[in-house]
Amino acid sequence: MYLKHIISEAEKWIAAYSSSFHNEDKEAMWGIGLKEAHIGFVRRNCKELAQWLKLTEHDVLLAELIGLLHDVGRFRQWSVYRTFRDNLSEDHAELGLKVIQEQSLYKELDSEDRSILLFAISNHNKKFIAQAPSERHLLFAKIIRDADKLDIYRVNIEYVCVPPEGVFTPVCKHNFLKAEQINGGDMQTVDDRKLLYLVWVYDLYFPWTMKKIVEKGYLDRVIATLPRDAEVEQAVERLRKFINSEIKC
Ligand SMILES: [Fe+2]
Repeated sequence: MYLKHIISEAEKWIAAYSSSFHNEDKEAMWGIGLKEAHIGFVRRNCKELAQWLKLTEHDVLLAELIGLLHDVGRFRQWSVYRTFRDNLSEDHAELGLKVIQEQSLYKELDSEDRSILLFAISNHNKKFIAQAPSERHLLFAKIIRDADKLDIYRVNIEYVCVPPEGVFTPVCKHNFLKAEQINGGDMQTVDDRKLLYLVWVYDLYFPWTMKKIVEKGYLDRVIATLPRDAEVEQAVERLRKFINSEIKC
């Protein structure tokens, strides 16, 4: 199982690579530490989801490797721009892929695994998945997107679940009411981010992920701090019905 060897190489490399960004600046270290922890959780989510999907041992390992490497670009992004917002800096998935492609472990991957890894990482942070070259490419892109979202709720729930400011940016509210995904670059307020996290449920691919998010209470917490009017109430009601129907699947 050659991927076991590559994962152990990738673990050592990423530990050394992220350490190269360590310094005395507390604020800088906050961002680096956040992403080091996030990578570990997403790797575990990928593995558990792939096992839930009853994938082969090889594919479980490939999902785990994608989770481990998906946010490599965050370290350089944070150290250069001090933000994790791609629209204010650069696309962290593409940034990470440049770094990964320079590593010897990348060159050890066979051509199909390499192509799937590139596709999945490139598409993990986009609004939609691009046209996939194969069903397998699509599957791994779906796995990393779900695994990543699940952990982003964990990371950000405390920052987001604050008393409502009562201010939505019109395009964000419009998308929420239409159950359409929100562009990261359109968000201007913490209440917009609440809408983004709620509308994400329409972009989950597996009931496994939906169940985890519901069990952790993330959605209830976001809903409880949402500014409300009749339109928002109606959209929340529809969202709850959608979640229940997905969980029953
Ligand atoms: Fe990411």
